[in-house]
Amino acid sequence: MKTKSQELYDSFAPYYRNYSKKKHCYLDSVDSLVVEEIRSFSKTGIKWLDVGTGDGVRIKELLKRLPKKSCKVDLVENSVEMAKTCEENFKKPHLLDISSSDLAGIDSSYDVITCLWNVFGHIDPEVNRASALKNLASLLGPTGKILIDVSNRYNLENYGESNFTANIEEDIKSPSPKNGDIYYPISVSGKTIDSFCHFFSPFEIKELFLKVNLKIKKELYINYDTGKLEKTWLRGHLFFVLQRG
Ligand SMILES: C[S@@+](CC[C@H](N)C(=O)[O-])C[C@H]1O[C@@H](n2cnc3c(N)ncnc32)[C@H](O)[C@@H]1O
Repeated sequence: MKTKSQELYDSFAPYYRNYSKKKHCYLDSVDSLVVEEIRSFSKTGIKWLDVGTGDGVRIKELLKRLPKKSCKVDLVENSVEMAKTCEENFKKPHLLDISSSDLAGIDSSYDVITCLWNVFGHIDPEVNRASALKNLASLLGPTGKILIDVSNRYNLENYGESNFTANIEEDIKSPSPKNGDIYYPISVSGKTIDSFCHFFSPFEIKELFLKVNLKIKKELYINYDTGKLEKTWLRGHLFFVLQRG
């Protein structure tokens, strides 16, 4: 049986590129952070795993900004249709669910693992997010880094005061890992697709890191409209650089 995310991305695949262009300020800003982190490795031949790779365009473009042949990239994607577009645009990903206990075919000791644009918000329920993160930690080399960004449900700037207040109130009055699960329509290229995604609180995602013994080396907040780096998580989505504890 397909997961909610596979249902979504299998039907969203033809529209994904156009949708992604709408968010280019945010995505470009995260990309610059990723390039900076990868450039900070002193060695060449960096082993890189991109998880929830989507249509492959983003990683292909990122590679163009790095010294030629400095990285060997492996990809993971669990939507069949997204994986097909990824193969057309760049290369064939491993078709698997990163929360699964069987990661057959995946290498280990990665120098860098990227998990970009709230991939974790599409992993449901919470127990699967924890096993996915545990898997990522186990695939890291001793000095390897995980670069991950997630959508922040306490992003007052982006979601507005009433949503922000409702989200905080819900977390105080009835805490649950399901808080932040949102069904909403996505409109792109004249088509509307029903979507489901989990939006994290800054505290929740950090608890998850702690659970699997990942240490936060860097924490940044990025404005979802402008891509500007913000001083507080009240104004942006969450970008982390993690290392094994
Ligand atoms: C918002 S898109 C981001 C795609 C890409 N990282 C980018 O930034 O353009 C999320 C992607 O994660 C994939 N995904 C969701 N859950 C996954 C899982 N459990 N294992 C592997 N891929 C997953 C989806 O199919 C989708 O392609």
